[in-house]
Amino acid sequence: MTSNPIGNREVGRPLDRVDAHLKVTGQARYTAEMPVPHVTHGVLVRSTIARGRITHINTEEVARYPGVLAILTHENAPRMKQPDEFDPSKSEPSAAPTTLVALNTDEVFWHGQPVAVVVAETLDQAQEAAALLQISYEPGAPGRLSLHEEKPRAFVPKKVMGEKPEVKKGDAEAALAAAPYKVDCIYTTPPYNHNPIEAHNTLAYWEGDHLTVYDSSQYITGGQKMLAEMFHLPKGNVRVISAFVGGAFGSKGRAWPHVALTAAAAKVVGRPVKIDLPRKDMFYMVGGRTPSEQRVALGADATGQLTALIHTGITASSTKNTFPEHFSFPARHLYACPNLLIQQQLVRLDMVPNTFMRAPGDALGMNTLEAAMDELAYVLHMDPVELRLRNDTATDPTERVPFSSRHLKECFELGAEKFGWQQRNPEPRSMRDGEWLVGWGTASAYYPANKRQSEVKLMLQADGTVVVQCGTHEMGNGTSTIMTQYVAEQLGLSVQQVRFEYGDTRLPKASGSYGSTTTATVGAALAEACATLKRQLLKLARKDHASPLCYATSAKVDARDGGLFLKAEPTKGESYVTLLTRLGRNSLEVSGQTPSGWYDKLTQAAYSFQSFGAHFCAVRVHQDTGEVQVTRWVGVYDCGRILNTKTANSQFLGSITMGIGMALWENTAWDQRDGRIPNASLSEYHVPAAAGLPHIEAYALDIPDPHMALGAHGAGEIAMTGAAAAVANAVYHATGKRIRDLPITPDKLL
Ligand code: MOS
Repeated sequence: MTSNPIGNREVGRPLDRVDAHLKVTGQARYTAEMPVPHVTHGVLVRSTIARGRITHINTEEVARYPGVLAILTHENAPRMKQPDEFDPSKSEPSAAPTTLVALNTDEVFWHGQPVAVVVAETLDQAQEAAALLQISYEPGAPGRLSLHEEKPRAFVPKKVMGEKPEVKKGDAEAALAAAPYKVDCIYTTPPYNHNPIEAHNTLAYWEGDHLTVYDSSQYITGGQKMLAEMFHLPKGNVRVISAFVGGAFGSKGRAWPHVALTAAAAKVVGRPVKIDLPRKDMFYMVGGRTPSEQRVALGADATGQLTALIHTGITASSTKNTFPEHFSFPARHLYACPNLLIQQQLVRLDMVPNTFMRAPGDALGMNTLEAAMDELAYVLHMDPVELRLRNDTATDPTERVPFSSRHLKECFELGAEKFGWQQRNPEPRSMRDGEWLVGWGTASAYYPANKRQSEVKLMLQADGTVVVQCGTHEMGNGTSTIMTQYVAEQLGLSVQQVRFEYGDTRLPKASGSYGSTTTATVGAALAEACATLKRQLLKLARKDHASPLCYATSAKVDARDGGLFLKAEPTKGESYVTLLTRLGRNSLEVSGQTPSGWYDKLTQAAYSFQSFGAHFCAVRVHQDTGEVQVTRWVGVYDCGRILNTKTANSQFLGSITMGIGMALWENTAWDQRDGRIPNASLSEYHVPAAAGLPHIEAYALDIPDPHMALGAHGAGEIAMTGAAAAVANAVYHATGKRIRDLPITPDKLL
């Protein structure tokens, strides 16, 4: 707050969500609820083999079924251009998750690949007809379905999220061999599927060669780009709208095959088509987090100082995408160590293309790095908090520049105090509560603080209110609320006087809402726009010598109470309404964008921008059944200045919850014979539910980053990293059993 001396204090306040009322009263319309007249319903049909070719589909028979309007297959679907796959090193990548153009080939690349779309008047008719479709296949070679078995064919990818796949500093293997204290372990993680409560869904219609698409998306510009490419249209002919989104944790940053297929189907039937994926299709057609096998080896001297840090491993992509999930990134930035060996390898599996899932890369790597740190603490007989603080560093070990802002130590200190960590007896199996073994665990959190590019528009209206426009998204993360607060504060308005419009490609262009970048990205653009608006108002005021603002400069005025006032003489000033009325203007419009000039590039190069945190949790493990319950959680996070303590807290709670799910329950159980997913439902794929969760206390340090616009990092993903490790470490403390294979199910503890 101290970094912002202007106007009323909106920023930082726990303001209720500006869209809360619409949502709880059912007025908020999500994609599948859009009242588009004459809408028809599409149902996808999934392949039942993992690899092979389609030989026959009984379309003629099923086409006669009542209500059926069209059956699209590889034989008759519109031909679409193969899109560029999402590429994180591009400033504006396409949202295509895969190079596969569904229904443009008879080949099958994964079990569950869409192979037909049935469009009918009603959803029931479409579902019934889809069930009647009989598809014959010529099976291909046996599916590649096991990461473990494909290991001999692992390769080092060219890039990992646009970065080098390897980092070598010193001689880590030699340092490990020489280290008096060490651990060297293999950890495995299963594939995880996305389960936002709102499934992916799309509604599309054509007007001539103009395509309009409602899409449950966290990256509308990427969707627009992909559709324009696939349908050979200028980008301006494609409009993507994403009004309200019922949760998006990475998967909605990609336009999965159903998006283009909805547009293709709408073209064929000449009417609007809606495809709303059933939960089962979510498992088969929307990619999730890769399985992984990782090695973490740590060497230390007697003081606990790391002398060797090795983090290597293998993740998987499909045969139709390339996304080597960057599990190795945390090890590049988290701890001081003179000898680093970091390397990623990739295998290809016959699976749905993998993708981002909350804290992609970093959550995956922190599961293992932070479990290994706990193992090392036991080897050293050192407190695990102390071990982490011994290896704290002011200089990024890989980039070799200072951190823009790093308060890992304060996170551990505050967290340990709130949790009562000092009371802990480090001995495993030393605490008990009747039939339950009790354990306490800790882990660091780490996530990069990046920003991307966005444009915004501000329109000051004659009535003194402001309309803010930006093609960003509100997926439950609170963007519309915090940006409203920020603009209100900057312009001295109440939040009711600011309207934030988003989720439409007709608005100024924004980057995707992923990577915890939205706050810093859109915020920086708004900072520029607000400053420009104030400057322009002063320029206009100058035309009138009677105006009290006539000779004022921006530095000499405050925006407050709906106008600009002299700082030196607070009674002198003018309201926006007076100013605009006198000038005879209906509105004043300015734009802004995220800075990307030389100064910004210099700053980006001069510092390492990262967020940090500390988790503390208590678990109890039943001595006879192996059931694990997380009973208490304290997390402290260092992600810059907090714009709204309530929405930020929600992000922390959500992340920790997902971390607990990752540790204990979630697991996509591919059948390794044919790629079928036997637990493709919410009844068998266990996501966390309130009854299984502890009381969670989350705190933000709220220390502004002096080198970041608004002083704010994102808050959406930091608490997801290391959370599963904290659980695993607590389970070890409770039971003396080190489970290196997630999730930690009871069978592994018995
Ligand atoms: Mo996040 S996985 O970048 O939505």
